[in-house]
Amino acid sequence: MFDDRVVIVTGAARGLGRDYARFFASDGARVVLADVHRLDGALRDASADGARCIAVQTDITKRDSVAALMEETLSQFGKLDILVNNAGIWRGLYDSRLLDCSDDLWDAAWAVNVTGTLRCSQAAVPLMTDNGFGRIVNVSSLASQSGASPYGLTKNAIEQMTKGLAREVGGVGITVNCVAPGITMFEAAKDSLPDAEAQVADYTVKRIGTSRDLYHAIAYLCSPSAEWITGQTLRVDGGASAR
Ligand SMILES: NC(=O)c1ccc[n+]([C@@H]2O[C@H](COP(=O)([O-])OP(=O)(O)OC[C@H]3O[C@@H](n4cnc5c(N)ncnc54)[C@H](O)[C@@H]3O)[C@@H](O)[C@H]2O)c1
Repeated sequence: MFDDRVVIVTGAARGLGRDYARFFASDGARVVLADVHRLDGALRDASADGARCIAVQTDITKRDSVAALMEETLSQFGKLDILVNNAGIWRGLYDSRLLDCSDDLWDAAWAVNVTGTLRCSQAAVPLMTDNGFGRIVNVSSLASQSGASPYGLTKNAIEQMTKGLAREVGGVGITVNCVAPGITMFEAAKDSLPDAEAQVADYTVKRIGTSRDLYHAIAYLCSPSAEWITGQTLRVDGGASAR
């Protein structure tokens, strides 16, 4: 589906981002894996079937680091078509409350989830504008709907940012959308979400989500079929937000 497309996935060292990178690669894309942590294992996974992928260690909160990510993408692949702003902080933050959230946690959450998403988008848009085509997919969360927690507030900001960016780039062939996952499980999340089974008992579709469930939504938003969809948040959560 993505032959000839060049895709950046942030937060690709582990978790959902690592899977998205692998799935894009197996759908024909050339993938740039970006993360503040080492990406050796994720790069091996994504390249396993012979796809052309590179890894660029990137701190999305730092403007210089994001600029270097874009430069490396251009120098290796000559263009950028798709940016998936997946990197985010939720561990340790997910259950925190407004009244006792530490300054460090609050600042880190806004720096990564909100500022990082914006910085990557700001840096990607000129490349996509040159290209005459672009798809940006941001990542929110079910938590944006279920009360104003510190985590939920950052994800709410991402949903609003999605609308604002979409309006600003609408005339140049770029769409900006967002997916808002419900609880999505993979091996590394098990320790951080010990009560996941209990939580999804209340979902409309009574199972934990998978990285494939989310990838299908992201891939659709990046496909030609979604050309007329922009500024939207697609809730991929087993109907949890419809309760
Ligand atoms: N797992 C879920 O159930 C779930 C549900 C809703 C939303 N989400 C969202 O999906 C995204 C991925 O979640 P996950 O569960 O895979 O998380 P994760 O913690 O397993 O992975 C997040 C990745 O982001 C990277 N990252 C953190 N700070 C960074 C920075 N400054 N620069 C670059 N990379 C950085 C981390 O190193 C990590 O590899 C997040 O935005 C999260 O909020 C996840």
